[in-house]
Amino acid sequence: MKKTDFHISQAHDLIGTHSNLPFWISMIKASQMVIPPDTSKVVLDFGCGEGKFLPVFDLMDDLKTGVGFEVDDKLLSIAKERNQNSKISYAHYDKLANYKDYFDIAYSQEALYTLPDLKKHAQEMFNCLKKGGYYFATMGSHIQNPLWAHRREIIRREESYPVCDYSLEQVANVFFEVGFEVGLKRLPVEYFVIYHPEITKAFSKSYLDLVNSVYENKMLFLFWKET
Ligand SMILES: C[S@@+](CC[C@H](N)C(=O)[O-])C[C@H]1O[C@@H](n2cnc3c(N)ncnc32)[C@H](O)[C@@H]1O
Repeated sequence: MKKTDFHISQAHDLIGTHSNLPFWISMIKASQMVIPPDTSKVVLDFGCGEGKFLPVFDLMDDLKTGVGFEVDDKLLSIAKERNQNSKISYAHYDKLANYKDYFDIAYSQEALYTLPDLKKHAQEMFNCLKKGGYYFATMGSHIQNPLWAHRREIIRREESYPVCDYSLEQVANVFFEVGFEVGLKRLPVEYFVIYHPEITKAFSKSYLDLVNSVYENKMLFLFWKET
């Protein structure tokens, strides 16, 4: 079976359901318009959480090797424990500096707003990508999202990581300044937006607000290290 024939049921079989799975799939499909799926890739997942993105990438694309970086030790050990794919490994964020001109492609799903020093992050990503490499990063958590003020307070209460206020222009400028070509589009919605009886209402006021917010405000950055 060709990787481009990927169906979401394969991901469900491999990792079960996850509310961010539709975003991972959308991000990978959007990146395949830029880098064809039949070229073998060394891949980074920044802010990998429990490590479910890279196995999905391996189903959908040609993964040579992949490294997921995470700063939260608990999440990192879950990712390591559950990993059954010999092409994939997980490492603490403080190991990222060891990788220079190493990755063909990098992804982060909703990690940018958790980074107080965005300039440092942009420089680190520039350093670890090969020349000609791409970094794709989703961002629904930005100050131009009308739900952000509401959502920010909930995330601040419930999560241990920092929650930062960035506009899309701020992010674009920071990455432009370190040498990336910067592109932006809405993240295409490839699948249904997943409902949860408590989280959907608390986080997004209503299911319709959540769907509208995903369609309107969930963005995908492209950062290209051309030189
Ligand atoms: C909103 S969560 C998204 C998790 C995952 N990407 C997903 O799609 O489900 C952001 C993640 O970024 C991680 N993170 C924050 N700062 C980081 C850093 N400096 N290095 C690596 N991971 C980081 C957080 O611990 C958290 O797991």
